[in-house]
Amino acid sequence: MARKALIAANWKMYKTPAEAQAFVDAFLPLVASHTRDEIALFPSPVLLPTVIPACKGSKVAVGAQNIHFAEEGAYTGETSVGQLKAVGGTHTLIGHSERRQYFAETDEIVNKKLHTALKHGLVPVVCIGEVLEEREAGKTEQVLKTQVTGAFAGITAEMAASIVIAYEPVWAIGTGKTATPEMAEEAHKMIRAEVAKLLGAEIAAGMRILYGGSVKPDNVTALMAQEDIDGALVGGASLKADSFEKIVKY
Ligand code: PGA
Repeated sequence: MARKALIAANWKMYKTPAEAQAFVDAFLPLVASHTRDEIALFPSPVLLPTVIPACKGSKVAVGAQNIHFAEEGAYTGETSVGQLKAVGGTHTLIGHSERRQYFAETDEIVNKKLHTALKHGLVPVVCIGEVLEEREAGKTEQVLKTQVTGAFAGITAEMAASIVIAYEPVWAIGTGKTATPEMAEEAHKMIRAEVAKLLGAEIAAGMRILYGGSVKPDNVTALMAQEDIDGALVGGASLKADSFEKIVKY
């Protein structure tokens, strides 16, 4: 089954509204005729009212880096799906390793967020990946299986069509150390096999699995050449329009 690649920018806690506007002004003309891949930007919540209108009419989608699982409530500092949708957001990251590491997000929380995102028709990008000690201890497969199973609890094949997974080995994020294309492909195959067990072969064959972790213009082509790598989630190298353009046009 042909999977349309998704190339996504995770801006993390960078850029002011003026800087975000300047990025979009520079970036959109560069990708105006690029139809091979889907493109998405994930800015901080305060940038969404700048970035979403600026991308209107283009093929560039915009989403949040995080949502809360509750519809609304007394959750200081959080953003609801309703708020995200009201400003025009269509996608959301869920369970990024920095959320897991610094904000104590568990597989159970990831699962609740996934249910909320799907209920409201957002495209969820569920992030998983092992830390260095787990890889060195030979536990990568076990960790990925646990994360996929935990994230997908109560998710049926009927609900799953829009789900995107991002495999981001934590030791490769922001470190300049990329998994080799072969290492990444091996992990992506394991993840797809696990999805097939949970949701069936057809859903697994159609599900996009992105690679993330120090993706750069000079390593993206080899990663994207792998059979099971269906896109990229890019942090540092997505902050400049010309760098992200090169990645989009791998
Ligand atoms: P990086 O970040 O490209 O800077 O390694 C990727 C991510 O955290 O999504």
